Amino acid sequence: MERPPYVRLNFDSENSGRSLNVDQLVSVIKKQIISNTHFSGCRLPPVRALSHQLGVSKNTIQTAYDELRAQGVVESKDRSGFFVSGTAEARPFAAPINVPGPAFKNISYIGYVKPTQKNMISLSSVFVDPRILPKEKLTACFKSVLKSPGIPEFNDPQGFLPLREKIATRLRDRGMDVDASHIVITNGSQQAIDLVTRVLETKAIATEDPSYHLGKYLFEMNGIKTIGLPIDPFKGLDEKVWQDRLAENRPGLVYLTTNFQNPNGYSYSSAELSKIVQWSKEFNFGILEDDWGGEMLSYSEFKPGLRAMGGKNVLYLNSFTKKLLPSLRIGYLVANEKTIEPLLMAKRTSTSSTPGIIESVLFEFLDRGYYDTHLKFLQQELDIRYDNCLKLLRQYMPEDIKWTSPGGGPVLWIEFPRRIDLEMLVARLSERGVSVQLPTTAFFGKPHSHGFKIGYAFLSPSEMEEGIDKLSQEIRRQI
Ligand SMILES: Cc1ncc(COP(=O)(O)O)c(C=O)c1O
Repeated sequence: MERPPYVRLNFDSENSGRSLNVDQLVSVIKKQIISNTHFSGCRLPPVRALSHQLGVSKNTIQTAYDELRAQGVVESKDRSGFFVSGTAEARPFAAPINVPGPAFKNISYIGYVKPTQKNMISLSSVFVDPRILPKEKLTACFKSVLKSPGIPEFNDPQGFLPLREKIATRLRDRGMDVDASHIVITNGSQQAIDLVTRVLETKAIATEDPSYHLGKYLFEMNGIKTIGLPIDPFKGLDEKVWQDRLAENRPGLVYLTTNFQNPNGYSYSSAELSKIVQWSKEFNFGILEDDWGGEMLSYSEFKPGLRAMGGKNVLYLNSFTKKLLPSLRIGYLVANEKTIEPLLMAKRTSTSSTPGIIESVLFEFLDRGYYDTHLKFLQQELDIRYDNCLKLLRQYMPEDIKWTSPGGGPVLWIEFPRRIDLEMLVARLSERGVSVQLPTTAFFGKPHSHGFKIGYAFLSPSEMEEGIDKLSQEIRRQI
């Protein structure tokens, strides 16, 4: 049998760091094992280990143990060491006690929809098909970083500076006032949302209804009052309702996705963005702009978003996870000279830093010009898939079904007449190998739209055709 673990004893409480003699050792050990009846049967620290810890000779320890044995406090068992007297059986430690688990908040768990369920056609995935992501070029960058003599040993908690500089340059080209020193690299943009949530003083955040559900859950989980601002996938925001809600609830922050909102694919018009910026001044709330879809836009001449229109106080986030590879998990948050410090502190207390090696790989990818080439290719590929999806919907869908045409991003919204039972539709589709994510948890209360998102970036044209064909068959069956 292997030797059992040994008890933890404290030798410092009665020691000033100087060498303990045999009498002192005997006294310290005796005091602790006699005062604790749970120790009977437990092994004492091995002679060598204690000799190393206390910096005294093995002989001294051995003599102390012999003395404890002579006093009947411990016994020796062949070869396995010294054990506290009291039980015949050697015991690894005191009898285990089943302690109560920590009390957790009551959180309804949202099931994780795997992007690649075996043989399922994922009709609502927001991911980009990994088959069109630049895995080989990324591999080349990984190899280069790992071979280079400058492989990072420590991380810059704010994120690898050359990467932040690259990002800042790109954003300045898009009309935003950004300095590398005001960027924090994050573990996907999800962490960027989390960081803001941690430092926000007024614990009330308004966001779209339907919302990006993991953002909404993040706020709610952190005890933040979360206010829904209804967005119609076809008509956008209702000015009167937004204005009333903002005036009434006075949120500290409004979190919005400027382009291709998840789940409804909506992109704000310039008039709407300018209204939001005015409200920010009027009702004194900060803005967090989520631009996850900004680069998934073909014909992507620059369209000013909230940071460009509202200035440097607007917090801006974006991510490489969808466009490059989900497993990279790199995103970023752009702040300014006033807001960067608390956000950085939030990151340090949360995950300390993001992996510097991955940041270096991403820098290399941008620096070699691969990102721009890839985006061009990606946008063309997404265009093909988007066109195909629209064509299929026009071809297969019955009369009174409608859908949006966002022109980019990964998703569009399909809306059904109320008489269609969406739960039943989803269940039937699932039996036929097509998975659809109902955005029920993304709404604040009863859904005001009756539909779901279709993600055209994830499926090949033929997979999309199979999915839409089955969807239309199930709708017709219900009608
Ligand atoms: C609107 C939106 N923002 C942020 C995220 C988080 O993405 P990531 O953490 O992968 O960058 C997602 C993920 O799907 C999203 O849909």
